[in-house]
Amino acid sequence: MATCSDKYFFHHGLMLPKATHTDASLKFAADFQFNDDDIVIATYPKSGTTWMQEIVPLMVNGGDLTPVQTIPNWNRVPWLEEMVLADVIGTLKSPRMLVTHLPYHLMPSSFFSSRAKVIYVARNPKDVLVSSYHFHKMAIFLDDPGTFQEFNDIFLKGRVMFGKWTDHVKSWRHTDLGDRVLYATYDEMVQNLRGTVGEFSTFLGTNLSEETLQGIADHCCFKNMSANSMSNYSLVPKEYMDPSVSPFLRKGIVGDWKNHFTPEEDLQFSACINEDMKGESYSFPWSQV
Ligand code: A3P
Repeated sequence: MATCSDKYFFHHGLMLPKATHTDASLKFAADFQFNDDDIVIATYPKSGTTWMQEIVPLMVNGGDLTPVQTIPNWNRVPWLEEMVLADVIGTLKSPRMLVTHLPYHLMPSSFFSSRAKVIYVARNPKDVLVSSYHFHKMAIFLDDPGTFQEFNDIFLKGRVMFGKWTDHVKSWRHTDLGDRVLYATYDEMVQNLRGTVGEFSTFLGTNLSEETLQGIADHCCFKNMSANSMSNYSLVPKEYMDPSVSPFLRKGIVGDWKNHFTPEEDLQFSACINEDMKGESYSFPWSQV
């Protein structure tokens, strides 16, 4: 049987941090009633969740900056599975926006019968690992990651919060989602934010002008978001997250893994991920990981 430190517990085999999740929050999520106009952003941790918590409310509000300048990201677009949802659910206006790190099969039953739209954002798992490694160092409510090599090892085995990256990505490729889902990547967002924001707008049917879309892309650049106290986690007490160890919005780039992996680690990591992804019919911009 899988084991974990006292900072985590298991929920249907998934390791979750106790600081943000409880049996009650997971029950609240399981009983959650989705509306057809809800918007869900699904990600594996460290794949651009916070970025989407900035972009989507701006799109839904026609580019109005008020929500992102006045409401912390975790209240603005709360996590389905975290404790905070029960407190803020009454404040969410239609269309409600939620994020989730849950794999597809652990979504509540009302999600499957609704028409709620989903944007699934994936990121090169090598950069996810690097981002997660630094996050584990600064997030006191998570286990210390140990050395990069040690963390790499448990990441590939899925002995980290929300399990294996490959299981998560594969779960959300479920054919039942049909046209309810849009697949995006962090990597494409870094390369062409204006273009990706346009794709989100078309998918969500927000019908925004070129000027508004450009304004949203400009606002959501790494520099601007890093300076937004409602989005950069500077409001979180230092007992939970210590930005002097590593800021939450750390580098915001593609390819930082090259500064962390040895050539051997690179080969081993790619082999492991490629083995797990064998038989999957889609590809990613980083294709050969
Ligand atoms: P790095 O640690 O590589 O910098 P999540 O929100 O899912 O936890 O993901 C966090 C990662 O997204 C961090 O990656 C963070 O810097 C990055 N990120 C957040 N906002 C961003 C933005 N506007 N532009 C680029 N990267 C961003």
